[in-house]
Amino acid sequence: MKPLNIVILGGTGFVGSHLVPRLHADGHRIRVLSRNRELRRELGVLPRVKVENVDVHDRARLTRALHGADAVINLVGILNERGSDGSGFEKAHVALTETVITACTSARVPRLLQMSALRAGEGASHYLRTRFDADTRVRDSRLAWTIFRPSLIFGRGDGLFFRFAGLLRIAPVLPLARADARFAPVHVGDVAEAFARALAHPHSIGHTYELFGPRVISLREIVRWTASLIGKPRWIIDLPDPLGYLQAMLGEWLPGKPISRDNFRSLQVDSVGDKDGLGELGIVAMPMELIVPALLGSDVQQSRLDAFREAQRPD
Ligand SMILES: NC(=O)c1ccc[n+]([C@@H]2O[C@H](COP(=O)([O-])OP(=O)(O)OC[C@H]3O[C@@H](n4cnc5c(N)ncnc54)[C@H](OP(=O)(O)O)[C@@H]3O)[C@@H](O)[C@H]2O)c1
Repeated sequence: MKPLNIVILGGTGFVGSHLVPRLHADGHRIRVLSRNRELRRELGVLPRVKVENVDVHDRARLTRALHGADAVINLVGILNERGSDGSGFEKAHVALTETVITACTSARVPRLLQMSALRAGEGASHYLRTRFDADTRVRDSRLAWTIFRPSLIFGRGDGLFFRFAGLLRIAPVLPLARADARFAPVHVGDVAEAFARALAHPHSIGHTYELFGPRVISLREIVRWTASLIGKPRWIIDLPDPLGYLQAMLGEWLPGKPISRDNFRSLQVDSVGDKDGLGELGIVAMPMELIVPALLGSDVQQSRLDAFREAQRPD
């Protein structure tokens, strides 16, 4: 395939750090737009990748940044907003997507790949509702679009196994809201591959792909498995919904909002799929059992090395 000029929004995060090298390997030239490139310079070490400071919410600035691009990938997404009335989700998902569509149209960029989430539009969370509303804007546009709806994504540096591993290392007891919530975690490498194939194959235009892995697993099982993989057997307590909701409410006041009421509402919808989008793109989903033990194992090894180095350091 002919190398493309690709602009990525939200490409400095977990998914972007896997997607950018994958697209770079296909020969594409990539510009990653960030709110703070100083914090995220690592991606720029690849020869055809540039990380630029652009306020992507500013339509005029975004339009200028998109000139000359063949395709835009919008990976921007948030799991938590500052307040709790949905306006933060509305801005990051719906308003930004509208801005991206307008900027693509003005800058004559024909192609848009939009990241969404599995089960968008279901349940009562602002997160899933605004994801769906953003997808609707994309579908109603005149662009050559493709939408991706993944379940939870796992891989090095994820917000799932790595996040729980971090919590389990410090917490002797872990009270868990919505422990029965079910997911079909998908490997970040498969997600990156799906984007790469969609760019290469015009038949993906006008399609929405659900991206999920081969195994359905509950939140409780994810946490227990993580605890056993890192060798930290912990007391994991399933919270009944009223207590889980209370925990989510209190979580909103903690630094970094580890859980919010909106997260609680998202967890009321099982993140499992119906239609194998990876299969439709010719990708065989990677089972997490083949990846996660090695990833967390090397993480444990690294923590031990760090602790050892710390202990050796002169005062
Ligand atoms: N990880 C998962 O399990 C999962 C599952 C389903 C869907 N998704 C979706 O996949 C996408 C990528 O996920 P990820 O895990 O890579 O997320 P991430 O690590 O949080 O990265 C998202 C990036 O978006 C940018 N961003 C965040 N808030 C923004 C805002 N208000 N305005 C403009 N830019 C903003 C940030 O870039 P800068 O700070 O450089 O500007 C950030 O690096 C998101 O849309 C996410 O919702 C992820």
